[in-house]
Amino acid sequence: MKGGKSVPSWVELLLSTQFFTTCSSHLISARNECNFFCIDCQTPQASFCYYCRLSHHSSHHVIQIRRSSYHDVVKVSELEDILDISDVQTYVINSSRVVYLTERPQLRSCGVSNAKLSSSQTYKCEICSRTLLDDFRFCSLGCNFTAIKRDNEKNVAQNGIASNAKDVEIGTNNGSTNAGSANEISSDANNYHNEIPSSTRVIRHRRKGIPRRAPFF
Ligand SMILES: *[C@@H]1O[C@H](CO)[C@@H](O)[C@H](O)[C@H]1NC(C)=O
Ligand SMILES: *[C@@H]1O[C@H](CO)[C@@H](O)[C@H](O)[C@H]1NC(C)=O
Ligand SMILES: *[C@@H]1O[C@H](CO)[C@@H](O)[C@H](O)[C@H]1NC(C)=O
Ligand SMILES: [Zn+2]
Ligand SMILES: [Zn+2]
Ligand SMILES: [Zn+2]
Repeated sequence: MKGGKSVPSWVELLLSTQFFTTCSSHLISARNECNFFCIDCQTPQASFCYYCRLSHHSSHHVIQIRRSSYHDVVKVSELEDILDISDVQTYVINSSRVVYLTERPQLRSCGVSNAKLSSSQTYKCEICSRTLLDDFRFCSLGCNFTAIKRDNEKNVAQNGIASNAKDVEIGTNNGSTNAGSANEISSDANNYHNEIPSSTRVIRHRRKGIPRRAPFF
């Protein structure tokens, strides 16, 4: 969890789980809403009710999901020790500090509040652009998680592009006489020595110094 862009695997499951359904094992009991999530079990149908918790998860690490105007929230006190939620906007509901699990739909066109908001400093969720009350980066755990996934995908994609580019250049170099392109490279590279002879050296320094050109075509 510490050190960069990795998030515990149960977060994705938590975010994709539906809560406040009726527990099929306790249809006629009073407290049969599925509003618990077990970090230890991470079963596919991951939400369960009060009675299921007592009988199957009593010694496990369980999170309680709560509702605020039909949106799922979790108390900060239940998450802060196991998850880095320092970038997520918190709200006080029933005198407890909570975070939203997922992004909430928003009305985008309200002129009055826009005018009011634009007159002062505003903070926005980096993913869904919801206006935030305080200086946080995300409106919800879900948007925070989306950001991490995007970062990771970007890294993967960049690595992929880099190695593809190398393959392409090697192939192209092989086919053509290299004199013209080598000249072009050294002039592009401003003051790099002309006597870099091997095409691998040229390629490596092209990749470092000269982005995005396709001089061979
Ligand atoms: C807040 O309190 C009300 C009334 O007790 C309760 O119905 C509601 O679920 C609570 N909401 C949260 C997020 O704890
Ligand atoms: C939120 O995003 C930050 C920065 O990308 C990351 O370090 C942190 O682990 C994320 N937290 C969660 C709960 O996804
Ligand atoms: C590269 O050149 C070598 C030797 O001329 C040749 O055998 C090989 O097929 C060429 N490869 C490509 C990808 O053009
Ligand atoms: Zn149950
Ligand atoms: Zn469990
Ligand atoms: Zn958001």
